[in-house]
Amino acid sequence: MRAAVVRTFGGPEAVEIVEAALPEPGARQVRIRVAASALNPVDAGVRAGMFGGAGKQIGLGWDVAGTVDATGVASAWNVGDEVVALHPGVAAPLGAHAEYVVVDTDAVAAAPATVDAVHAATLPLNALTAAQALDLLELTPGRSLLVTGAAGAVGGYAVQLAAHRGVTVTGLAREGDAGLVRSLGAAHVTEGTAGAFDAVLDAAVLGGTALAWVRDGGAYAGVIPQAQPASERGVRTTAVEVGADGARLAELVRLVDDGVLTLRVAETFALDDAAKAHARLAEGGVRGRLVLVP
Ligand SMILES: NC(=O)c1ccc[n+]([C@@H]2O[C@H](COP(=O)([O-])OP(=O)(O)OC[C@H]3O[C@@H](n4cnc5c(N)ncnc54)[C@H](OP(=O)(O)O)[C@@H]3O)[C@@H](O)[C@H]2O)c1
Repeated sequence: MRAAVVRTFGGPEAVEIVEAALPEPGARQVRIRVAASALNPVDAGVRAGMFGGAGKQIGLGWDVAGTVDATGVASAWNVGDEVVALHPGVAAPLGAHAEYVVVDTDAVAAAPATVDAVHAATLPLNALTAAQALDLLELTPGRSLLVTGAAGAVGGYAVQLAAHRGVTVTGLAREGDAGLVRSLGAAHVTEGTAGAFDAVLDAAVLGGTALAWVRDGGAYAGVIPQAQPASERGVRTTAVEVGADGARLAELVRLVDDGVLTLRVAETFALDDAAKAHARLAEGGVRGRLVLVP
């Protein structure tokens, strides 16, 4: 099978398409024939060497939508099931930017019924990250939340999920994105205001600047593991590190089918053009996800 990997860190041109043996599922694993796989900032980070692993082949791609093609012992899934899954990790030799990927069964959920695989492939990583970051903030209905990077993938899902729970959401985004962020459910789109919010979810990685917008005793959640700013004024600071969670992903799939979560695709690329997709991501200004199709 073909797979996108990096063997020498660098820019988009460092992405290589290689021939690899078909991976076999072990116990409590399934193999998915990939229909679509989103390209995320983490893939650019892996490609550039931000997560280490020099001298090894590292597979790219965390998000997958496709069809179960083989099952290991004690797999809860059947060949032919249409699924989505998160394949996290920055060190495995193969990832989801491939024709086939093996994932743990408990990372898998049935695919949404109302969208195609290209859209479904944009859900797992960023919706799970948004949901797990909101868990860290422990917000109850009526509380106020500022989401930075609210037009992005993590930020957009966070706005929709928090608004759906009755949290009053303010989005911080680029000027041209105000309409989009309102359409996702933000009550306000604004500049940050010192001490104004019960919590901040800092998807734009503004750090201490965003921390200053939390009220005394509130909560801050960052998106770079272990890199959140130090606590001040009694503000609890934390950072999300996304974990695969098929049951949670199934809840998010239901929210897609209920029309609560919007899946945004900017453009599709053939898997063989993965390096071009990386180059497009590096240009910036992408709204919605770039998706690779084998
Ligand atoms: N910890 C985890 O487990 C985890 C999981 C997933 C993602 N992440 C991280 O979360 C971050 C967001 O990911 P993503 O996929 O949502 O990225 P994204 O889709 O590129 O969204 C980021 C958004 O923030 C905007 N932004 C950046 N700086 C801004 C500023 N100063 N003011 C207003 N808006 C600003 C960007 O606008 P422009 O495009 O115009 O700059 C973009 O709309 C990334 O750092 C990613 O690596 C972490």
